[in-house]
Amino acid sequence: MIDNWSDVLPAVMVRSTQTNEAARCAVLLPVLSRLEGPLSLIEAGASAGLCLYPDRYSYRYDVGGRAAALDPDTGPSSVVIPCRIDGAALPTQLPDVVWRAGADLFPLDVTDQEQMEWLDALVWPEHEERRRRLHGAARIAAAEPAHLVRGDLITTIPELIDQAPDGSTVVVFHSAVLVYLQPEDRQRLVELMRAFPRVVWISNEGAGVLPAVTDQVRKPINGRTIVSVNGRARGLAGPHGQSYESL
Ligand SMILES: C[S@@+](CC[C@H](N)C(=O)[O-])C[C@H]1O[C@@H](n2cnc3c(N)ncnc32)[C@H](O)[C@@H]1O
Repeated sequence: MIDNWSDVLPAVMVRSTQTNEAARCAVLLPVLSRLEGPLSLIEAGASAGLCLYPDRYSYRYDVGGRAAALDPDTGPSSVVIPCRIDGAALPTQLPDVVWRAGADLFPLDVTDQEQMEWLDALVWPEHEERRRRLHGAARIAAAEPAHLVRGDLITTIPELIDQAPDGSTVVVFHSAVLVYLQPEDRQRLVELMRAFPRVVWISNEGAGVLPAVTDQVRKPINGRTIVSVNGRARGLAGPHGQSYESL
């Protein structure tokens, strides 16, 4: 019988509930593919960093029933991401990524089998495709590990921006992360990004998370996330990257 749970919980709660969905790259690409490269990617709330490899995956876009394939220069990737998209947003090339970095309160190491088993355990049992994608993306990331740091995104992102290589376009992005922050901390991030006018800031977050972005959307959101660039709403995305509709 346990009398005092507070003695036990710190030992039990060694992990946090986390997901990392590489398929969200399909809805970041409409923006990333149109930026002048080379790109330095910095992800806030990166988890294991699997969204830092948009140039290493293959995409099979469905443009109103027409198939459009996009593969790395080296040929089709072992990770193939399907996504419905409108013609205006269809990416036609993969970005040239020269640096990959990220921050997370609990960054996961793709080379650590136990940590990857934990991410696997958090995928719903019937979501076989997501599980396969997780394993494939983790193998790709392990071959070329990103620079992941532990810490709150508000304090760590400026440090990472400073470390980005000269001559690259620096992109800070986050996906399904700000919902975990208090509203005042979300606003601190908005102000932080304003302080770096040369950095491209991409947000992919749920409705209401950034009210000033949500207010720009005139179409039904229907559970989708809003992709914005430097605070301007640009598209509506399926929560796991299944679809992208331009705004
Ligand atoms: C739902 S996961 C999304 C992971 C990844 N962005 C993706 O799209 O697959 C949210 C991540 O945000 C991280 N996170 C939450 N609050 C954070 C904060 N204040 N600073 C840094 N990371 C944070 C969590 O640890 C978790 O890894």
